[in-house]
Amino acid sequence: YRIDKGNHRHFMAKEIHEQPEVVGRTLSHYVDLANGRVALPEPLPFDFAKLSRLSITACGTAYYAGLVARYWFESIARLPVEIDVASEARYREAPLERDGLTLVISQSGETADTLASLRYAKSQGQHTLSVVNVPTSTIARESSAVLPTLAGPEIGVASTKAFSCQLTVLLCLAIHAGRARGVLSAERERALIDALITVPGLMAEALTREAEIEGLAREVSKARDVLYLGRGTSYPMALEGALKLKEISYIHAEGYAAGELKHGPIALIDESVPVIVIAPHDAVFEKTVSNMQEVAARGGRIVLIGDAKGAAEHGLDTLATVTMPALDATVAPIVYAVPIQQLAYHTAVFMGKDVDQPRNLAKSVTVE
Ligand code: AGP
Repeated sequence: YRIDKGNHRHFMAKEIHEQPEVVGRTLSHYVDLANGRVALPEPLPFDFAKLSRLSITACGTAYYAGLVARYWFESIARLPVEIDVASEARYREAPLERDGLTLVISQSGETADTLASLRYAKSQGQHTLSVVNVPTSTIARESSAVLPTLAGPEIGVASTKAFSCQLTVLLCLAIHAGRARGVLSAERERALIDALITVPGLMAEALTREAEIEGLAREVSKARDVLYLGRGTSYPMALEGALKLKEISYIHAEGYAAGELKHGPIALIDESVPVIVIAPHDAVFEKTVSNMQEVAARGGRIVLIGDAKGAAEHGLDTLATVTMPALDATVAPIVYAVPIQQLAYHTAVFMGKDVDQPRNLAKSVTVE
């Protein structure tokens, strides 16, 4: 691995652009293409069929990957998921079933709170499975099993390619779990694999919207507050979008479940607050459209990140629409990571911020 910026101005830009390649590499590690099924690199020392629930813990962006995965484990594998940020999970004294499973997610594999949660799970007699990017890390060494993300070294403090690779591994794991639990048919698995193998190409296509996003970033850079909304798996993507923007541009941003808008945050809406709506054309798209109508009625400036079908249907006056390629909604979070990252990146660059090393932040948080 060459640790340089290549032709890019920042590591973050390079890492955003590497995603089709590294997600493709990660996929080839987890998918048996010839048979259209997931094949984990190593057998796991526990059986998904015997689990009554899955506990997930992580911090920051890795936690948001876990939040997306909750939807996948519940719908694809019919496995109930309990998830918390590691700084809370480690002290909650949660009763964890002996022989149950705790899944931890970490790019660095050295995050202090995540490691402490892993150790707590072990003390309760749980199996531990980690999704990590650094295979020699403490978390990898202390877990009963490790699923590597093959993103390569991530230098930018804002996590990008590690996140999309985490999502890739987690979706493969949910498919594996669905088959092990006898709730996923071979046809459905094949359809999911067909969708997964289109992801690197779709991410490459998503990357071509960069000039458009750069233009949008100029608008966003003028805002004091930005709201991100989404439903279903787009809800954690809204949280991730807001985190990315806060981290590197220092603009205040909040992610909300679109349906929660009317329970408080709608009071914030006026012409000065851009509202970024993440809405692929999925099963909850119509519901998100009614939330967009609520925003539009209060003068909010909507930026829709969605596909052409959705953009044609909603009939709303938006400030801008970033058109993503049409795709199977299950894989949307992996592809939609791209515009979310690019929007934060270009906003920060436009504002002259130190994108790769934002103030007050460390790449890996090894202290509590
Ligand atoms: C992401 O952009 C952050 N810098 C941060 O939230 C990060 O994801 C978190 O600290 C967890 O790190 P890890 O994946 O190395 O455990």
